[in-house]
Amino acid sequence: HMSVGSFFAFSAALFMLYDPIRRLSNLYNKAQDAIMANIRMLELLATKPMIIDGEHKLQETIESLAFENVSLDYDNHRALANFSFQFKKGNLYALVGESGAGKSSLVNLIVRFYDPTQGKITINDKQLAHYTLASLHAKIAYVTQHILIFNDTIAANIAYGKPIDEAKIKQALIKSHAIEFVSKLPDGINTVLTQGGTNLSGGQKQRIALARALYKEPDILILDEATSALDNTSQKLIQNVLEELKADMITIAVAHRLSSVIHADSLLVFASGHLMCHGKHQQLEQSCPEYQRLLGVS
Ligand SMILES: Nc1ncnc2c1ncn2[C@@H]1O[C@H](COP(=O)(O)OP(=O)(O)OP(=O)(O)O)[C@@H](O)[C@H]1O
Ligand SMILES: [Mg+2]
Repeated sequence: HMSVGSFFAFSAALFMLYDPIRRLSNLYNKAQDAIMANIRMLELLATKPMIIDGEHKLQETIESLAFENVSLDYDNHRALANFSFQFKKGNLYALVGESGAGKSSLVNLIVRFYDPTQGKITINDKQLAHYTLASLHAKIAYVTQHILIFNDTIAANIAYGKPIDEAKIKQALIKSHAIEFVSKLPDGINTVLTQGGTNLSGGQKQRIALARALYKEPDILILDEATSALDNTSQKLIQNVLEELKADMITIAVAHRLSSVIHADSLLVFASGHLMCHGKHQQLEQSCPEYQRLLGVS
């Protein structure tokens, strides 16, 4: 027999148990998640990096960048096949070819996002892997279509971690033809940009990215579709600037619009990972079928 009093006490106690049991089962779920996360994290920590940092600091100026029978495979897909070429300081090179031909893959090798599957890449006759990544990257400016703009002043966005030298910033802005729009802003180079540069147009972002690259005074300047958002006039102006600056570096431009790279010292024509021909526009126009085909479709 249970009294009315103890019956209510029992029911109240039963209800009070509900919450702790619910919490206990939540706790169990959380513990399971944590265990899984821990396993994945340990897996990640145990992965060996595929790119091994070199031991030597690259201090001297890059005079030449040479590829000897270089191939690059992504899994089983050959993106670049048996590529041999020597890039030399003072020249402007253009990489052309249809989409998927291997142009960006070649660039990926220069900055060591990937190491070649076969063959040898050298800087001034020393293997690329001989140098530390930091010292290599310090000498290379790489401008892509994916431009990182962060929430800081234009000056800081251009110096990009380096000390801000206002005179040099202005020079870089002049060279990249960004000065035209920056000088119209109320705060000039001290104008604060939004994260992702949402308050800039595509062309303005590309000019800021180019200014950032030039501020670095690189030995190798790589432009992968870097001027695609510019109108024809701006593109022409930037071409002239690159022409003026090229004496001090190796310039490599990837472009879909052939008209923007016709003046290159050498155009490298790629198809399905193979270098088909290389030379000046006038030569290729006469003798390179793949180039003629690209001219036809562009
Ligand atoms: N990270 C990757 N993983 C796997 N395959 C890739 C990777 N990057 C590129 N590829 C493949 O390698 C080939 C060459 O690509 P790559 O990006 O070098 O071409 P691209 O000439 O730069 O083309 P686009 O003009 O479109 O930029 C393509 O078939 C592409 O699908
Ligand atoms: Mg590409």
